[in-house]
Amino acid sequence: MSAEFFTLHSDLPREGPGRPEDVAWALGLGGVQPGARILDAGCGPGADIAALLLAAAPGGHVTAVDAHAPFVAQAAKRWGRDSRVTLMTGDMQDAEGPFDVIWCAGALYFLGLREGLDVMRGKLRPGGILCFSELVFRGGEPDAALRTALEAEYPAIRPVTHLDGMIRAAGLEPVGQKILPRASLEAYYQPMEKRIAQLRPGADAALNRVLDEGAAEIALWRRHWEDFGYALCVTRRPE
Ligand SMILES: C[S@@+](CC[C@H](N)C(=O)[O-])C[C@H]1O[C@@H](n2cnc3c(N)ncnc32)[C@H](O)[C@@H]1O
Repeated sequence: MSAEFFTLHSDLPREGPGRPEDVAWALGLGGVQPGARILDAGCGPGADIAALLLAAAPGGHVTAVDAHAPFVAQAAKRWGRDSRVTLMTGDMQDAEGPFDVIWCAGALYFLGLREGLDVMRGKLRPGGILCFSELVFRGGEPDAALRTALEAEYPAIRPVTHLDGMIRAAGLEPVGQKILPRASLEAYYQPMEKRIAQLRPGADAALNRVLDEGAAEIALWRRHWEDFGYALCVTRRPE
């Protein structure tokens, strides 16, 4: 990703859709123990660590890993001195389990969903849970222009109805699933929109292109939120 991309995506409160309520919903469904060992895979700036720890597992431990060092540095500003949190810059595939809970918000697709499910299953203890969010078509066949626009960004985007089969094929049990509500998307997009406006004055051509792409992504979602969204899936590794 370009330097301009990271200019836009620096110091945002989060790097993908989600709110503390979504973490609480998923972990409530999965049944997390207070002392759980948790992996936040692709943690970005660490937006979900508070909800993972404080709400779900106050006596637990979170290993938060992200490939992009500045995001980990941002997470470290809040959590670097908390012994319940280990922050790592690196590949989520290298995190050493076993974990009771793996939280992977908007990041599993970087590995390819099928491969990512396999990798994360291998890091769970039997009975452990994997929660992940994934961009999906919500209903029937989307119109061709929308499909083209979304596939340009994520060629493997699929209907939400395909997810349970993929989860089972990876040897995991589907526990529950929901489409993230609009507020969860706005929790990501509104700060990003503000940042686009701040960066516009004085932006060169390369930065303007990235800002245009960001604005277009937001506009596309607001226009078509009934057609696509993020599915938050809770899955379990069988005992
Ligand atoms: C869409 S962002 C979501 C970040 C965070 N979970 C959130 O919701 O704010 C995806 C994150 O995955 C990270 N990422 C991508 N591939 C990765 C990998 N193989 N290992 C670790 N992190 C990775 C990116 O650096 C990015 O921070």
